[in-house]
Amino acid sequence: MKIISRICELRNCLSEERQKNKTIGLVPTMGALHDGHISLVKRCVEENDICVVSLFVNPTQFNNKQDLATYPRTPENDFALLETAECDYVFTPTEKEMYPEPDVRVFNLGLVAEVMEGVYRPGHFNGVAQIVSKLFYLVEPDKAYFGEKDLQQIAVIRAMVKELNIPVEIVSCPILREAGGLAMSSRNRRLTPEQHQKASLIARTLKESTTFVPGKNVQEILDYVANTLNNEPVFRVEYFDIVDRYTLQSVKNWKETTDPTGCIAVFCGEVRLIDNITYKNKLS
Ligand code: PAJ
Repeated sequence: MKIISRICELRNCLSEERQKNKTIGLVPTMGALHDGHISLVKRCVEENDICVVSLFVNPTQFNNKQDLATYPRTPENDFALLETAECDYVFTPTEKEMYPEPDVRVFNLGLVAEVMEGVYRPGHFNGVAQIVSKLFYLVEPDKAYFGEKDLQQIAVIRAMVKELNIPVEIVSCPILREAGGLAMSSRNRRLTPEQHQKASLIARTLKESTTFVPGKNVQEILDYVANTLNNEPVFRVEYFDIVDRYTLQSVKNWKETTDPTGCIAVFCGEVRLIDNITYKNKLS
């Protein structure tokens, strides 16, 4: 496994690989890797000749300075995990390397970027589009891997790729969860042991809510999830919405979509967590 921090070196290595007709897969990450990330890396290794993983805490997608400052950074542990997962190239650029000049590009991401995370984290998706587009230009991957934990992010990346006509296949990968059900996240490390234990209630509540479908209507499910979590003093639900899985637009009743999906953002103490669940299998 080669660890590279300069763009020109990465380009040189990858152009040699391409000359040998190797296919290239990319897994963009912000590091502090866990098994959720590694599941993407393993899939990338399986499906491509060459696997590139980027580790870069992208400042342009943080709308909250505190969140950026406290974002966990564990490079040595990340390298060890990637080596074991048989990654070929790790790209860890500095901020100056990725942004020699401020990136002022504004993307036309459409309605998928305007709801949920788009409302509560203004500018976040534009920052994601800035960094992921740069990574796509310099890696030129055949396939790129993203996790469904960030379901809206996948829709935004697809919108960006379409707008810019970037020839890459976007592969979406299922959410990996801890034994208690909590979706794995780098931010889980910031939870106290008590908060961590409580946080499994988020996934349990989402899962339980699926058992009430289709008997309960959309509004009843919205109320059930928000009230169950807000009743615990450690939680503050920022939003919980039931949306079409692909357009991310709210649905008012089950018949409006073939794949209704509940998306939540909830503060557990100071730590903001997101998760989602499909109701599709309860409606067929
Ligand atoms: P990061 O939060 O590090 O996540 C990197 C990738 O891992 C994303 O595609 C995310 O959806 C996926 N992932 C995270 N937790 C997961 C889990 N529990 N199960 C499955 N996949 C999971 O998302 C970002 O970084 C950034 O926005 C990035 C795309 C790298 C741009 O900076």
